Amino acid sequence: MTQNIKTTAHAEQDRVVIFDTTLRDGEQSPGATMTHTEKLEIAELLDEMGVDVIEAGFPIASEGDFTAVSAIAKQAKNATICGLARANFKDIDRCWEAVKHARSPRIHTFIGTSPLHRAIPNLDQDQMAERIHETVTHARNLCDNVQWSPMDATRTEHDYLCRVVEIAIKAGATTINIPDTVGYTAPRESADLIRMLLNRVPGADTVIFATHCHNDLGMATANALAAVEAGARQIECTINGLGERAGNTALEEVVMALKVRNDIMPFRTGIDTTKIMNISRKVATVSGFPVQFNKAIVGKNAFAHESGIHQDGMLKNAETFEIMRPSDIGLADTSLVMGKHSGRAALRAKLKDLGVELADNQLNDVFVRFKALADRKKEVYDDDLLALMKDQETTSAEDTLQVKRLRVICGTEGPQEAELTLTIDGMDHSIDATGDGPVDAAFNAVKMLYPHKARLQLYQVHAVTEGTDAQATVSVRIEEDGRIATGQSADTDTVVASVKAYVNALNRLIVRRTKSAPGENVKSVTMRDA
Ligand code: KIV
Ligand code: ZN
Repeated sequence: MTQNIKTTAHAEQDRVVIFDTTLRDGEQSPGATMTHTEKLEIAELLDEMGVDVIEAGFPIASEGDFTAVSAIAKQAKNATICGLARANFKDIDRCWEAVKHARSPRIHTFIGTSPLHRAIPNLDQDQMAERIHETVTHARNLCDNVQWSPMDATRTEHDYLCRVVEIAIKAGATTINIPDTVGYTAPRESADLIRMLLNRVPGADTVIFATHCHNDLGMATANALAAVEAGARQIECTINGLGERAGNTALEEVVMALKVRNDIMPFRTGIDTTKIMNISRKVATVSGFPVQFNKAIVGKNAFAHESGIHQDGMLKNAETFEIMRPSDIGLADTSLVMGKHSGRAALRAKLKDLGVELADNQLNDVFVRFKALADRKKEVYDDDLLALMKDQETTSAEDTLQVKRLRVICGTEGPQEAELTLTIDGMDHSIDATGDGPVDAAFNAVKMLYPHKARLQLYQVHAVTEGTDAQATVSVRIEEDGRIATGQSADTDTVVASVKAYVNALNRLIVRRTKSAPGENVKSVTMRDA
């Protein structure tokens, strides 16, 4: 199937470049904004797992994006660091300023080429062709490694697409990315488009063709793999499929599909798949977008075998129902349950199995919290420990607001009441509030003690494990003057977890307020301006 097909230029024809855009297209998802430190931590994990190209941001979009891209460029050990730029010299220069510190920098410039997108800058086909020639040439004069994307390629007329791709190649682009910007294509069409470009465009065999798919119709993974089978050799993707609307192609899905079905898709990536689970958890925590339970590869249920028939088969031979091993993605095989008699050493070993290594002082803090949880809950499962770790990561002794005490009074007769004590800048403040349900009452108490105009955009509760003593993880997203902050927390008491998550989001908002004037943290330029 892959014999005798034209493929894009690459030293090894079966090697697929993994281009991760979690920090650019993923972060663009409303509410998924990450802090500078979080972006650096994620970039480090991506680099360690063997991602070939990290798209670290859109440097012209905001001061924060610029600083993050340059810091990632300086920190990267192996990966190529790429920044996004629209088709104008100012964007491209700014992008180069940010990525030039990298061991291996790349400029990615794009313009919308479909009829709908051409209408936005009001350029006719010839004017746009001229703009592409000028901007790619300019980028190539700055950097040897230039990627060019015709945005909305899957809805661009084929003749025009071939014409502009040829112009970009002649102007010096080294990678041509074919985006399915609105998630409109389907596998056969995705493959045909790449094949058509490889066959028709002069010089197509001198560059790498990339596929960049969105998941609006749930076909992003299938479309990306079909493009590879047709000759594309770079997949653009994000961890957990994070991204605007229905998201992007999920890195873990394409990488594991190529690994598990290497018999019918004989391509290689450089990804260490055992690092997948750890980075998936990290991205879910910092973006505030929890992974759906039945998500392929990284969902909580992806390796769970509930039904009796499955369990019986699994005990006899794991391959009966499993096409990959949990350890392939870095999930510990063991399910050793912890309890209140488990000691420090057992906790350390268990956390290590889960991919978490702690220094002694950190272990001490976690151990205290683990004991408190084990006192309230008979059995502490892996997911309980991970929720506890998440809680630990998202709170700090330096937070402006801390939840000290909460008591709620509920009953069939409303309104419900909450008595809350918050420590604000080291001083305790208490209040009683009422509301439509205990969570509403408790949130009202927070607003009375710490008045703010942030609006609640999202409130989500998940049970971590089964049973009535299960912990709940709560995710909260708030917005104030265009700044978005997310918070998460876990507790066996849903109302306590809710208030802590809300306070956690407020603490992050406070940090953002002090780092920027109103509106400054909001991207001043968006891709829609392209
Ligand atoms: O979806 C898209 O078209 C993009 C481009 C900037 C590559 O993200
Ligand atoms: Zn995109």
